[in-house]
Amino acid sequence: MAAGVASCLSSAALTPMSSACERNSSLTGRGAPLTLRGVGKSFGSKTILNGVDLHVPAGQFLAIVGRSGCGKSTLLRIIAGLDEPSAGTIEVAGVSKGRALLARIMFQEPRLLPWARIDANVAIGLGPAADHEQALHRSRAALATVGLLGRAGEWPSVLSGGQKQRIALARALVSAPRILALDEPLGALDALTRIEMQRLLEQVWLANGFTAILVTHDVAEAVALGDRIVLIDHGAIAADIPVGLTRPRQRGSAEFARVEAEILERLLAAAH
Ligand SMILES: Nc1ncnc2c1ncn2[C@@H]1O[C@H](COP(=O)(O)OP(=O)(O)OP(=O)(O)O)[C@@H](O)[C@H]1O
Ligand SMILES: [Mg+2]
Repeated sequence: MAAGVASCLSSAALTPMSSACERNSSLTGRGAPLTLRGVGKSFGSKTILNGVDLHVPAGQFLAIVGRSGCGKSTLLRIIAGLDEPSAGTIEVAGVSKGRALLARIMFQEPRLLPWARIDANVAIGLGPAADHEQALHRSRAALATVGLLGRAGEWPSVLSGGQKQRIALARALVSAPRILALDEPLGALDALTRIEMQRLLEQVWLANGFTAILVTHDVAEAVALGDRIVLIDHGAIAADIPVGLTRPRQRGSAEFARVEAEILERLLAAAH
């Protein structure tokens, strides 16, 4: 972990869920840029992605929407380095093969180990080679960032669904990734918890400056969080829409509703 990130997480540990680290203050340039050129992916004779060209500047928050089965998770797995494209190239901060080391992914299910305490579950994000004491220290700092430091010694089974997702977020953050890939991470949460988690995600992103790639079915969520929204249709980018709203975004505002309606309209048009 870079020293700047460690100190950011440490200071956050003193002030849980605070904005102790302003965006890009001690962490200038933390996010990694991402470039896909002509990326394609096929499974057997089935083409899922075809000719995807995408550049995401360092530190941008990109939201990806699209109908079910259009290839969003496939694209995210390729970005995170969990899979390789069948065609084209992908680079994160100028590297292709080593990009998995720069990225972390969070899923809809928390995927916690039931036999490991919460701090140990978070420390897993640092990998098996991490020094035990240092790993626990970092794990606690990451837990403070998501407001759950007080639960460090407990078992995952005693947590609510929303709390489990916070632990999953802490585990994704503990290694200070330069890209955070999020595959419908809030999809299973109730409406209120979901909005709280969106605020937490935005706060953590602002504080740490990583590049965020969020796949979501919730158009309002994409508008609330994205600097930009990309619509995938039939394995290609069908629309690429900048979101110019100031943060924090006001869900009830006319401008928010206008952007949401525009995205929804394009999504529905793509579904035909
Ligand atoms: N490992 C695989 N082997 C074969 N087919 C796959 C594999 N992974 C994904 N697919 C297929 O690729 C297509 C796109 O899947 P993907 O999971 O990327 O869609 P998605 O846009 O994330 O959908 P959803 O919104 O429902 O999560 C689907 O038809 C799926 O069956
Ligand atoms: Mg998916």
